[in-house]
Amino acid sequence: MQFIDLKAQYKALKAEIDSSIQSVLNAAQFISGPQVKELEAQLAAFVGRKHCVTCANGTDALQLAFMAAGAGKGDAVFCPDMTFISSTEPSKMFGAASVFCDILPDTYCLSPESLERQIQAVLAEGKLRPKAVVAVDILGNPCGYDALEPICEKYGLTLIEDAAQSFGASYHGKRACAFGHVATTSFFPAKPLGCYGDGGAVFTDDDETAALFRSLCVHGKGPGGKYDNVRVGMNSRLDTLQAAVLLPKLKALGDYEIDRRQEVAGRYNAAFAGKLVTPFVEEGCVSAWAQYALLAKDTAQRDKITAHLTEKGIPNMVYYPKPQHALPVFRDEPRYGETFQNADDYCARTFSLPMHPYLEEAEQQQVIDAVLEALSL
Ligand SMILES: Cc1ncc(COP(=O)(O)O)c(C=O)c1O
Repeated sequence: MQFIDLKAQYKALKAEIDSSIQSVLNAAQFISGPQVKELEAQLAAFVGRKHCVTCANGTDALQLAFMAAGAGKGDAVFCPDMTFISSTEPSKMFGAASVFCDILPDTYCLSPESLERQIQAVLAEGKLRPKAVVAVDILGNPCGYDALEPICEKYGLTLIEDAAQSFGASYHGKRACAFGHVATTSFFPAKPLGCYGDGGAVFTDDDETAALFRSLCVHGKGPGGKYDNVRVGMNSRLDTLQAAVLLPKLKALGDYEIDRRQEVAGRYNAAFAGKLVTPFVEEGCVSAWAQYALLAKDTAQRDKITAHLTEKGIPNMVYYPKPQHALPVFRDEPRYGETFQNADDYCARTFSLPMHPYLEEAEQQQVIDAVLEALSL
């Protein structure tokens, strides 16, 4: 059994993927081929955004979003304490401060109360300028945008949606990547929409921001083209081959993969309800289930369950073992006396089970039996 079965997905989509790759090989337009434009148009339409600009990976996508926000020295960028480092790394890279906020105890996404406390602490201290908020749709579950958007408006902050884990999710009828001034995603192979290497994209409704991204992705190119450099940029493009892989995968994701993920999550939820803390998805929302994470009673119980799963040959992972404030790289970031109880608690108790759209019912049952068995030991 695989934690995320990319071979099973390839088997299901082999004919479409092979012919799509073959057409790139035949045309030999490996950079900026027509598949890239086509994919950008389809991605923008899928999420309901005016512009999509693809780039080399989800981390670059976030760097681009930070560059568009103009975040740098003297700025405070607010982000959840429980995420992958890519959400917070660009702050340090551009000389801004990462101000961590606690997560909610149910969705595990950015807590609006903690966010507002931290904004006010920054303002009260008067040393940093509150600049941007990175809202991470963690594990595939969309953030509570109805609460986050008004806070960003109130304090004049740029909202960035980090949808690396949530492509295909939706929040009250709007798809992930449709929130914030800029939204970013990742096509890392294990993501809900993954390519066969690295890939990413930024989304915006703003024409000027989209034009800025197109320039930044190609060494800050100007109106005269790539040798007319008007700003410092980067070399960050999605290869044509990756676009060719993503086109049939995007269709499968929309046609049935997201639905199948709901079925797997539903079966897990029913089996573990009342025995472990099962994931919470707000009414009217759909998670992309990048991960199916449970909370054990405590670290000892978590470790006992994961050891049993490993012994039984069931793949399992811990996303994430440490909150951001506990990472050595962030030891000097300002804290303002905020505690991160929910993030600490989540990291101490979480473990994730195999989750993908091709997980057979028999395999799901095997996972369920092994977890329940571990609980009875
Ligand atoms: C929340 C989050 N943001 C950003 C990224 C960065 O994506 P990439 O690996 O494509 O750079 C990831 C990747 O794991 C992620 O989980």
